[in-house]
Amino acid sequence: MLFLKTVFRVGAAALAAGVVAEAASDYTLVDVFDKSNFFKEFEFFDESDPTNGFVKYVDARAASDGSLAGYYQDSVYLGVDHTKTTTTGRESVRVESKKSYTQGLFVADISHMPAGVSDAGSCGLWPAFWMFGPEWPNSGEIDILEGVNTQSSNAITLHTAPGCHMTNTGSLATTKLLRTDCNGQEGCSQNTQATNNYGAGFNAARGGVYVVEWTSTAISLWFFGRNSSIASELANDNSQEAPDTSEFGQPLAVFVGGASGSGCDIDSHFQNHSLVFDTTFCGDWAGKVWAQDDTCSALAPSCSAYVGSSPSAFTNAYWLVKSIKVYQKPAGANEKRSDTRLPLPFTA
Ligand SMILES: *[C@@H]1O[C@H](CO)[C@@H](O)[C@H](O)[C@H]1NC(C)=O
Ligand SMILES: *[C@@H]1O[C@H](CO)[C@@H](O)[C@H](O)[C@H]1NC(C)=O
Repeated sequence: MLFLKTVFRVGAAALAAGVVAEAASDYTLVDVFDKSNFFKEFEFFDESDPTNGFVKYVDARAASDGSLAGYYQDSVYLGVDHTKTTTTGRESVRVESKKSYTQGLFVADISHMPAGVSDAGSCGLWPAFWMFGPEWPNSGEIDILEGVNTQSSNAITLHTAPGCHMTNTGSLATTKLLRTDCNGQEGCSQNTQATNNYGAGFNAARGGVYVVEWTSTAISLWFFGRNSSIASELANDNSQEAPDTSEFGQPLAVFVGGASGSGCDIDSHFQNHSLVFDTTFCGDWAGKVWAQDDTCSALAPSCSAYVGSSPSAFTNAYWLVKSIKVYQKPAGANEKRSDTRLPLPFTA
């Protein structure tokens, strides 16, 4: 990949007024994150990994200097170190939106996600695109695109405080809800089946568009592979109008809160979510299941031993994010964090 570390420039003007007229909805476009503003609107998390990964999350300056984050063509690049061996944790980035959201429609056009150079090369990796709120798990977490090791399809998970039980009526028939209780670290996961929605299969198809719709009654996720007509409509949509999710067909996964008093009161369990991209290694998931993965455990006795000694296995472990659009209804709330953790070198 021809990634240059000097490509931190503000991109072309933000989206021009478009011509795509779509079904009326009361959603309004509130934010577009793309190469014109991404590193002003997302901040680097450089503390130790809360999921105990074999990782060293670096700050903005180190990410820039080390070519771990920047722009590549029309996209935002978020990568990992793939040149050095390490015994303390592989360098990587985790970025979080400064702005947070309660409810809304989130449209993420992603053309590449972290994966190995071969199936075995994915061993040790744990990439995630997700959202979460303050005082985890009280304000909830929505894991939109996530997996570990040799996993070949996306696993979509919610995490909450106790008292939130979801059903998945309406999900694609091939999607399986593993647990209805969203409480805590285990959460409620839906395993999907298509191989173009995660990892090497996602990248081979040039990614696609993930859509999350979060309302008081349900959290629904769709994935449109790059070659689908809806993905090209979404990718080429320069209008202010929200896409009409009623035209999307069955969600890849839907979490239904259900009647009040039982199920899950989504409004009290999910609030003020920041958007996050990260790539970690090993830790509480990829590391924990290492021994159970025959492909991975054949490579090294432990996940961290493999990740530390195999830099070249991670040359494809990067995100390319073309854009994320956020639409909200008037009732939706959002707030902008006042703190800026780090001085960013990404300004014009
Ligand atoms: C689109 O890509 C997927 C995954 O690569 C493939 O299964 C499907 O057949 C493709 N569809 C078209 C219309 O090319
Ligand atoms: C969420 O944000 C709103 C608006 O800023 C604020 O009033 C509320 O206290 C926040 N909730 C949590 C759980 O932080």
